[in-house]
Amino acid sequence: MGITASDFDYVCRVVRDGAAISMETGKEYLVEMRMAGLARRLKMGSATEVIEKLRSNSDPKIRGLVIEAMTTNETSFFRDSHPFEALRKLILPELIKGRSADRRLSIWCAACSSGQEPYSIAMIVRDHFPELLNWQFKILATDLSEAILAQARSGRFSQLEVNRGLPAPLLVKHFRADGSEWVIQEPIRKMIDFQILNLIDPWPSMPPMDLVFIRNVMIYFPQETKKMILGRISRVLRPTGFLFLGAAETTLNLDNSYERVPFDKTVCYRAGSV
Ligand SMILES: C[S@@+](CC[C@H](N)C(=O)[O-])C[C@H]1O[C@@H](n2cnc3c(N)ncnc32)[C@H](O)[C@@H]1O
Repeated sequence: MGITASDFDYVCRVVRDGAAISMETGKEYLVEMRMAGLARRLKMGSATEVIEKLRSNSDPKIRGLVIEAMTTNETSFFRDSHPFEALRKLILPELIKGRSADRRLSIWCAACSSGQEPYSIAMIVRDHFPELLNWQFKILATDLSEAILAQARSGRFSQLEVNRGLPAPLLVKHFRADGSEWVIQEPIRKMIDFQILNLIDPWPSMPPMDLVFIRNVMIYFPQETKKMILGRISRVLRPTGFLFLGAAETTLNLDNSYERVPFDKTVCYRAGSV
């Protein structure tokens, strides 16, 4: 039995209020599929039963699980490649030069999913800028989903996941095989602090950031939420720092205080030009 229009609307409202993720009519199949998956995990009878439990408010955990189940966790190592090229060739050398007096550098990967993005950055740092490891250097990686963060913290990836974007020499150098999985080596894993953070909740205090990656998450948010988040980022990003968005995302018409900085085959942004 399919979910009703009212069930669909209810789940949409919970996900919009809880994570700012907008879902339009036509996504009923997606809600049904994800709720059916959650029902199997929770050993419940059906998608409808999960939604009934959600409506009844009888289990405080169910709301978070429903929101988590509706997020898209699509990611890969060195996703879209060009931002990582720019990081290696231009951006990290420039930041290191500018920060050499106080030897502090902080990077934030917001909405990091299962960790491929922060681990890609960590591999670049370890292989090309090892001097940073003697600085006060920090990679903070956050996501809304505790389940996806647990996966990220474990540093375990399937063959399919490492096949996506990870060059073979880096697989050999930074991972060890464990049965059918690949586990990232401890020195890389330890470079990243994974923390839970829902971007629409108040943010905890964080150090001024030299680099912010917030890619492929704001596409799911309404305009007002995008504006709010870009405004908050401009307050945590140093004036000399850089913001990276996803390939289909921009600050244009949302927050004109950002300066667009083209780099070779990619674009990033600087805060506070206005
Ligand atoms: C498509 S993945 C992007 C992963 C990575 N940044 C990349 O570009 O490959 C989107 C991630 O955003 C997270 N997310 C969705 N809504 C969020 C919110 N309100 N706050 C924090 N993270 C959120 C999801 O859990 C998911 O892991």
